[in-house]
Parts: sequence; C-alpha cells; structure tokens
Amino acid sequence: MRFELTLQRAQVVAAVLAAASLTLLVALYAISPVAVTVGGRQARANRIESVESVARRVAPDLLTSGDLLDVEGKVLEHGKGAAPRILVSGRDAKSTDLVWWNRKVTILKGANTTEDVSTTVVWDHFGYQKVGDGALPVVTKQGRLGVTEIRVGSRSGAELERVNTSQAIEPTVQFALPKAGATPMVALTFDDGPSEVETAQILDVLAAQDVKATFFVIGENVERYPKIVSRAVSEGHQVAMHAYGHPNFKDISPDEITAELNRCADAVQDAAGVRPTWVRPPYGGVDGLVYTHLNNLDYRIGLWNVDPADYSRPGMQKIINRVVYGAFPGGIVLMHDGGGDRSETVAALPGIIGELRDAGYQFVTVEELAKASEVR
Ligand code: NI
Repeated sequence: MRFELTLQRAQVVAAVLAAASLTLLVALYAISPVAVTVGGRQARANRIESVESVARRVAPDLLTSGDLLDVEGKVLEHGKGAAPRILVSGRDAKSTDLVWWNRKVTILKGANTTEDVSTTVVWDHFGYQKVGDGALPVVTKQGRLGVTEIRVGSRSGAELERVNTSQAIEPTVQFALPKAGATPMVALTFDDGPSEVETAQILDVLAAQDVKATFFVIGENVERYPKIVSRAVSEGHQVAMHAYGHPNFKDISPDEITAELNRCADAVQDAAGVRPTWVRPPYGGVDGLVYTHLNNLDYRIGLWNVDPADYSRPGMQKIINRVVYGAFPGGIVLMHDGGGDRSETVAALPGIIGELRDAGYQFVTVEELAKASEVR
C-alpha cells in the first residue's frame, strides 16, 4: 500500500517534470531568434515578436506616410497622405500576426494623395447687342445664359481647370419709342423708396396735381412702410421694383436676381395686393445676363433718359431746370424718394409738373408710356 502510494507520487512528479520541461522547451523555441525579411532587409526576431513590432524596429524609415498634394502636384502637407502598409501573405498585418508564422514582411510606403476638388458654378456676365437707344429696352432676340464651371483644390484654392458648360449668347436689345402722332408724354419716376416722409409728401403733390407716377421701390423699405405703398397703388400710381436690397445685378447670379425680385414682389403684394411686373435694376445695372434672365422671367425693364441728379441735392431750382430742359416726348425722368434727404425733390415737384404741363406734356406711368410706344 505504502509502496503503491510512493509509486503514484513518483508518477505525478515525473509527469509534472515532463510538462515543465516541455514548456521550457517551447519557451526556448519561442524566444530563439529566426531570420526574417522585412521590407527586403534581412533581420532576426523572436518567433513571438509581432510583425508590426519587427517592422517598426527594422525599417522605421520605410514606414512613412505619403504627402498631401494640391491639384498642381505641389506638397500641401508632408506626411498627410496615405499611411504606410505592413503586409504578410499579401494582406494587411494584424496586431496578432507573429513572426512565428510570418518570415516575410512586406512594407508599402504611404502613397501621396491629392486634395479634394471642388467645383464652383459661375454664371458668365456677358454683353448684348444694342440697337438704337432709349429708356424702354425690349429684348427682340433672346440670349442664352453662359455657365462656367471652375474646379479648384478645396484646400489650396489652386485652379485645376475651367470648363464652359454653356456658351452665352448675347441678346439683341432694341428700344420702344412713342408711336408717331402720340400726345407728348413724360413719365415721372421715383427710386429707392418708399420713405416715410418724402414719399407721402410726393404722393400729396401728385394727388393735388392729378399726376400719375411710377415708384421703383426697394423691398426692404416696402416692408418698413407698407401703408405708403398701398396708398400709392390705391391712388393709381404704378409700383414697380428696384430690388429687395440695392445690389448691382451685373455683380450677382441669376438665382440671386430672382431671389431679389421675388422678395421685393412678395413685399409689394403683401403691402398693396398687386404684383409688380416692371423692374429698374439698381444703378441701371444691365448686361446680357440681366436682359436675358429678366426676359426669361417675363419682367419688363424701365430705365430713364432724363436725369436731374436730384440725389446730389443741387437745389430745387436746378432740379426743376434740368428736368424741364431735359424733357422730350417719351422722356422718363429719374428722381428719388428714398435713400437720403429728398426734400429738394419734393420741393421741385410742383414746378416740374407745372412747367411740363404748360409745355403740353401728359404725365403717364412707365407702363402707360410703354403701351403708347413701339420698337421701330
Ligand atoms: Ni437706386
């Protein structure tokens, strides 16, 4: 019995010793260096070292990221391109990949990458064929909007290319002039209003003199003084549009022009229940794009051909003289009821009306003048 027990113990001890020596052997095997190839270089590594660790130890100079290049190929930022890759057996090494099973490690340097390209659509501003002259332009041959796409590096802004995706075609613009034999007519027009004081005073003078005029309003001001606009409409005046703000249409896109006019028209409609169809672009800013686009939108343009420069406040008498001596049949007189002190304009108005009436002129709105005019 005792002997058996001793034998059993000896067997256990032997088994433990055998296991321990096997473990030791395996451990010795694991930590014994073997030959590996890393990025084409010969090196030695323990079997239990990870592939990534060997790569970093043996070939740190190969583990470089590429550069970020701009669209012209110039370096924007070093090391911001693609990261390097460590490959075993034709695939990316994982952190659990050990030298044990992988004796050949391939390193791919990070490639250069190129910045993103962004495309900007630019509407071309182009010219127009002008036939004759006047203040009531009519597009007699419609143009076509031109579009250029500009592709630039989204970081560098460097231009890659520009592509003309729609070639602009210039419109032909002629001018409506009073029909032969028509009564001599002039249209008094007021820009940049409404204003609280001067527009009301101008409406008082016009009412007293029984004269109809045209107001090219700014949408922002319409929202501020809607009652004045509804009064102008109810008293028989034409309310037409300048814009919502006062941008030069030659500097903005067709979409921006549309937005300006829609907002202004909405303001007039809210204030007075009518939707204007006539436009005087701020600064008289017209070009091929403006004519083509407004014609597409079915708006008519009313410019001017008698300009007393009342905005410069030259004095009441000068304003009267400039209008009266400058007037002719079909004249459209540009004055201002907003954008500054317009008291001189208000003061000049009775004199202007009196003298032109004495000279045989009839006062009409721009729309009425257009109806009595034709392109010849
Ligand atoms: Ni203006």
